[in-house]
Amino acid sequence: MSGSVIIVLLGLLFNSIASQASPCSINGFPLVRNISDLPLDNYGRPGLSHVTLAGSVLHGMKEIEVWLQNFAPGSCTPIHRHSCEEVFVVLRGNGTLYLAAESHGKYPGTPQAYPIFGNSTFAIPVNDAHQVCNTHNLEDLQMLVVISRPPAKVFIYEDWLMPHTAAKLKFPYYWDEPCIQSSVKDEL
Ligand SMILES: *[C@@H]1O[C@H](CO)[C@@H](O)[C@H](O)[C@H]1NC(C)=O
Ligand SMILES: *[C@@H]1O[C@H](CO)[C@@H](O)[C@H](O)[C@H]1NC(C)=O
Ligand SMILES: *[C@@H]1O[C@H](CO)[C@@H](O)[C@H](O)[C@H]1NC(C)=O
Repeated sequence: MSGSVIIVLLGLLFNSIASQASPCSINGFPLVRNISDLPLDNYGRPGLSHVTLAGSVLHGMKEIEVWLQNFAPGSCTPIHRHSCEEVFVVLRGNGTLYLAAESHGKYPGTPQAYPIFGNSTFAIPVNDAHQVCNTHNLEDLQMLVVISRPPAKVFIYEDWLMPHTAAKLKFPYYWDEPCIQSSVKDEL
């Protein structure tokens, strides 16, 4: 065997070892997992702590995805919209849902503000621009979030007056970014 063939084979071997150790592997998860042991990350967003409990990219989910999210006081989601369904269950804390419902104009416009609180739940109408903020000054806001049609394809607005057509596609979304395969883009 020539030296270059051996180098190529070694390269393949190390590659497969690296992908087995990847945090994006869908293999090796026990059926029942202790949420306290799952890794949280802020994915570069101050005040956020997110874990995908059941995900498309991580766990091969096809129809839904489930997140557990914590927002520190003062932190928010971006103003955004998506064509999937989304259901929130507030586990603890207080905050505000901003929703520009039925925004058929060129831009979302001034949203309506709804107080959200521990043991409250709400569903976001498909494609309506919205934002969730922890508006409490001391306590965290913790929510369980379920979305349909993962992985999330999200359009982000800089403000409520930004035209729908100018909202920027963020795909893969923050927590899918480290793991997603480029092939998923074809299904947008
Ligand atoms: C879940 O994990 C936490 C933190 O590691 C631990 O304190 C707790 O005992 C675990 N729960 C069970 C039922 O194992
Ligand atoms: C905060 O949430 C609690 C329930 O968790 C509720 O009783 C209380 O009214 C809320 N406070 C505000 C200011 O919305
Ligand atoms: C939430 O509401 C349900 C239904 O009323 C109740 O059984 C449960 O104790 C509540 N949970 C909290 C944390 O308040």
